[in-house]
Amino acid sequence: MNDNFLRALLKKPVDRTPIWLMRQAGRYLPEYCETRKRAGDFLSLCKSPDLACEVTLQPLARYDLDAAILFSDILTVPDAMGLGLYFETGEGPRFERPLREEWAINNLTAPDPYDHLGYVMDAVRTIRRALDNRVPLIGFSGSPYTLACYMVEGGGSKDFRHIKTMLYARPDLLHRILDVTSDAVIAYLNAQIECGAQAVMLFDTWGGSLSDAAYVEFSLAYLQKIVAGLHKTWNGGKIPSIIFTKGGGLWLEKIAASGCDGVGLDWNVNIADARRRVGDKVALQGNLDPNVLFAPPETIVAEAKKVLTAFALDNTAGNTGHVFNLGHGISQFTPPEHVEALVETVHHFHF
Ligand code: CP3
Repeated sequence: MNDNFLRALLKKPVDRTPIWLMRQAGRYLPEYCETRKRAGDFLSLCKSPDLACEVTLQPLARYDLDAAILFSDILTVPDAMGLGLYFETGEGPRFERPLREEWAINNLTAPDPYDHLGYVMDAVRTIRRALDNRVPLIGFSGSPYTLACYMVEGGGSKDFRHIKTMLYARPDLLHRILDVTSDAVIAYLNAQIECGAQAVMLFDTWGGSLSDAAYVEFSLAYLQKIVAGLHKTWNGGKIPSIIFTKGGGLWLEKIAASGCDGVGLDWNVNIADARRRVGDKVALQGNLDPNVLFAPPETIVAEAKKVLTAFALDNTAGNTGHVFNLGHGISQFTPPEHVEALVETVHHFHF
């Protein structure tokens, strides 16, 4: 197996810097749009293990990527908790029953992943079989705070008015949501590991919207609890975990001390500074601005080299410890041939 991705996360020597891209299976690929049309819609695609497997493999057929990521969504967990997920075309995710009433919050329970998210477990098993040990498979979940944002707001939000009202007016209710959701995430990620996921990633997309104190209390504390509850090894292999807080540059030392193996960086952060701040405690993943992929290939090559060189400059762990990625998901408007230039540049770079 090409295990450079797992080796980089565990800070073992690699033969090249591994690269994968957040949202690597998605709408910028015409073959993804074709499969989604066959499925009917995005949620049906997530709920069909065979089609989810098909789209997971599509970016790997085009590019020499070093990891596959399960095709699914972070919002499957609140859906399994009974909130009724649906996607309004062009409007993003929505919940039929947003979580705002005290009685509903008291009634919230963590779903059994094998019962209520069995389609995800089937997808993980199917993808592992199809990958045939070419590259490792990443499982994932949303962070409790990020999931709570969608659960309480009832969908995406610009100002997070409802969840922030709860955070300051009824912190006890928000803590109850985060507690139950953390238990759900631990069970969900452990089940993904049991079914074949070889690394896991926590997406904390909205942690960066919090104040310094609130981040520690309402996001990081629960991420820490999850990392402590995860299987550390499975079937004789180590299972590394990655925490990605978008806008989390202020808290890198604290995230690195959470017990995770890798810290995801968005594009606001200078990766050389990040390396100096966290030492070689953890691997780093990121941090190219996804918008670089709109520029001509020569610019993509130059920008990718800036990230690689900055990382190498201050890296104390030797020829390892960096998983190249974007600072957030790839845009649906990315020209697919631009991704090729990026992957090749990263693979041919020498420390
Ligand atoms: O990275 C991958 O290729 C794996 C699949 C994956 C998806 N969503 C597929 C998806 C992963 C890891 C996610 C995570 C996710 N989902 C996050 C965290 C990461 C991030 O982007 O911040 C969040 C916040 C969500 C919730 C979500 N799902 C939103 C806000 C949207 C709509 C926005 C959009 O891009 O349209 C989705 C839909 C979604 N999830 C799509 C994909 C490929 C697009 C749906 C489509 O095909 O129409």
